[in-house]
Formats: sequence, structure tokens, C-alpha cells
Amino acid sequence: MCIVANQSMAVIANLGLEVTELLLRIKELEEQQLAFRNSVICALNQLLDLKDINTGVHSTRLAEWAIRVARKMNIPEEGNYQVEVAALLHDIGKIGVPDAVLKKNGPLTAEERAIINRHPEYSWSILRLFPGLEEASLYALHHHENVDGTGYPAGLKGQSIPLVSRIISVIDAYDAMVSNRCYRKGLPHTEAMARLIQSSGTQFDADVVKAFIPIAEKETADVFEAAGTSTAAAL
Ligand SMILES: [Fe+2]
Repeated sequence: MCIVANQSMAVIANLGLEVTELLLRIKELEEQQLAFRNSVICALNQLLDLKDINTGVHSTRLAEWAIRVARKMNIPEEGNYQVEVAALLHDIGKIGVPDAVLKKNGPLTAEERAIINRHPEYSWSILRLFPGLEEASLYALHHHENVDGTGYPAGLKGQSIPLVSRIISVIDAYDAMVSNRCYRKGLPHTEAMARLIQSSGTQFDADVVKAFIPIAEKETADVFEAAGTSTAAAL
């Protein structure tokens, strides 16, 4: 009886060891999968740099802005990964826009504008292929919606636009306005702010603009620096 009990204890102990080993292996595989996904995300951002350096660098800054605004708007920290990826790769679909249209100097024709306006759908179609990035793909899909329903691709209104998409819309516009380009100087902070406030409630979500104002006032230099750029550079 005693021998049987001892054998049973040994079997249970062995099973316990096997379970621990399996759990460790699962954790290891999960870490490898996350590292691989992060490498692909960085590679996609590099591709965007190669396609259009302005868009690539701007997107890197948007990831910085987005996390700061998300925290200010009390989005739970566990959602930060999706926020960061969506901000970083919201314009990845621009890879599908021909250079002759994307980099055209001068006004776009209606047809060219329609081609550019497809880029949020292209971004969605790329990001949705990654297991675990379904949320980020939806945020990217709706980053050009306006709260009054005049945006694209779906013409969503107000709170039916995901909050992260509404955040990206505001920081995207601000960062583009204040950035220098080879062909034009960026707007002063005060002018960019005035334009955000003017379109608050029509193009932009008023609460997001309100949350963003103090961040833009205090953290613009930090955000540019964190992305390896400066407010003085033409990028
Ligand atoms: Fe965009």
C-alpha cells in the first residue's frame, strides 16, 4: 500500500514538472511571436520611410503623440500597444499609392484625390492580416473620418468613430501642420492650434483637441526628439 502511494506521488510530481516545462515553453513561444511581430511592424515603418521619408518620420512621431494623448484620455495602459501600432502604421497603405500621385507637386485632380483617399483601406487590409492587430487595423481604417460625418472611407460620425482614430486624426493634422517640408515651412504652434480649435466639433473631436492642447504646448520638442527629428529640420 505504501509502495503504491509512493509511486502515485512520483507520477504526480513528474506530471507537475512536465506542466511547468510546457508552461515555460508556451511563454517562450509567445515572447518569440511578439518579438517577430514587432520586427515586422518596424520593417513596415522602414518601408514607409523608403516610400516617402516625410510620411515615415511623421508616423514615428505620431506613435509618440498617440501614447501621450491616450494616457491623458485615460485609455487603459493595456490598450497602448494597439494605439502605438495604429499611430505608427496608420498610413502604411500609402505604399499602394503611385508616387506620381503621392508626391505630386501642385493641386490634385478629383481622380488623384480619390486614389489617395483609398490609403486608409489599404492600411486596414495590411494590418488586419496580423493576428492580434485587428483592433489597430480598424483604428487605421477610420483615421480620416470627421466627427460631422464628412470624412472617409465610411462617413462615420461622432462617437461611432473609434476614439483612437479620432486621436490619430488630431495629432496627424497637428504634426503635419507644424512640420517643415523641403517646399514649405511648418506653421507656428499657435496657428496650428487655432486651426485645430476652429475645426473642433466638425472635423475633429472636441474632447481630443482639448486633451491634446496642453500636450502640444509642453511636449512638441520632446516628441520630435524622441522620433530622432527636430522642429527645425525639414522632415
Ligand atoms: Fe492618412
